[in-house]
Amino acid sequence: TGMFTFDPGFLATASCESKITFIDGDEGKLYYRGYPIEQLAENSDYLEVCYLLMNGELPTAEQKKTFDGLILRHDMLHDQIFSIFKGFRRDAHPMAVMVGVVGALSAFYHDSLDINNPRHREIASHRLIAKIPTIAAQAYRYNKGLPFSYPKAGLSYAENFLHMMFSTPVEEYKVNPVLARAMDRIFTLHADHEQNASTSTVRLAGSSGANPFACIAAGIACLWGPSHGGANEAVLKMLDEIGDVENVPAFMEGVKNKTHKLMGFGHRVYKNMDPRADIMRSTCYEVLNELGLHNDPQFKLAMALEKIALEDPYFVERKLYPNVDFYSGIVLSAIGIPVSMFTPIFALARTVGWISHWAEMISDPGMKIGRPRQLYTGAPRRDYVPVTERK
Ligand code: CMC
Repeated sequence: TGMFTFDPGFLATASCESKITFIDGDEGKLYYRGYPIEQLAENSDYLEVCYLLMNGELPTAEQKKTFDGLILRHDMLHDQIFSIFKGFRRDAHPMAVMVGVVGALSAFYHDSLDINNPRHREIASHRLIAKIPTIAAQAYRYNKGLPFSYPKAGLSYAENFLHMMFSTPVEEYKVNPVLARAMDRIFTLHADHEQNASTSTVRLAGSSGANPFACIAAGIACLWGPSHGGANEAVLKMLDEIGDVENVPAFMEGVKNKTHKLMGFGHRVYKNMDPRADIMRSTCYEVLNELGLHNDPQFKLAMALEKIALEDPYFVERKLYPNVDFYSGIVLSAIGIPVSMFTPIFALARTVGWISHWAEMISDPGMKIGRPRQLYTGAPRRDYVPVTERK
């Protein structure tokens, strides 16, 4: 069995070559196609970042206009898709609905399933990016018992998402530019993160030649877990459980005894700081100021946790810093988005990253099916015993 390298959790194995995203974990830096995330978060917008991730270059003014128009025109769902939503229980977790509905897109768009045709691949990518906010918003509305909503012309990607989430037939949601900007930043900061668990899942699924809609459904399934995309949801649940600043010391004792983790802290790759967390922290302040929520008890509790954790030797020695999800959960909650929608929003934003990695892999002529090996540790060869003779 000495033939294979044993590397559980892939701590030391690069699974592919990629030109999309670079993370410098020691320095706490993140680059999309060479551009620092700080510059993109400050000056760009999510759809431009999508174009960049998919195409490798920032668009010219004309390319940007065409791309934005294209995405914002493909955001409607086939009417039959609404029947799929209706097959779920009303209390279904929106991630369960997302896995199902996105997988079902394979049954609707037969003109974009030929993975060997570059035009098909492009159309599938555009459809996914365009439709995923609509799908996420409908998953929420279905939970709430609200009628399904439609995208609206003239709004940006982030504005449209907020509109689809919150507008009702009697009252149109008035989009606040500070909140729309925060939403756009959350999308941008989550757009890609190289070979994380869900992206690796998408690549592995795609390596067999499965269609892109099915592959993205696999990515959504992987993202659902609390160690990955479920972390921002877990942060808010944790804050609810702690309840009050005075319970922080007892909670921290539990963390050190390893009864529970401090959710929103730590990262496999960033061991000094998460550059996305810095950007999210300032966005968090902007949003709370705009909404007059800076005295909100939950926010105060989060800040108390942050302060203690940054000073406590347990966290300092283990290089555990707040990650992006520590703050994004607080921002989303301030915008009025329920906790169950946090991971769906992560999935929405990450769709472009997944599809860019999928396309990069598929267009590589040297692509092989992903097929890890194992070290077998089970029973040695033995003979079958008839059921009457078994003890
Ligand atoms: N709270 C308390 N202790 C922790 C935490 C935490 N959040 N994270 C790691 N540790 C401890 C861990 O117990 C271990 O201690 P020891 O050396 O005594 O055994 C040490 O720190 C090293 O941790 P690890 O588990 O080897 O680190 P990892 O790279 O395998 O895990 C992680 C990374 C993100 C899964 C983990 O830090 C974690 O579970 N964090 C909380 C969940 C979270 O916020 N996830 C979001 C990640 S960012 C968004 C995304 O990519 O999806």
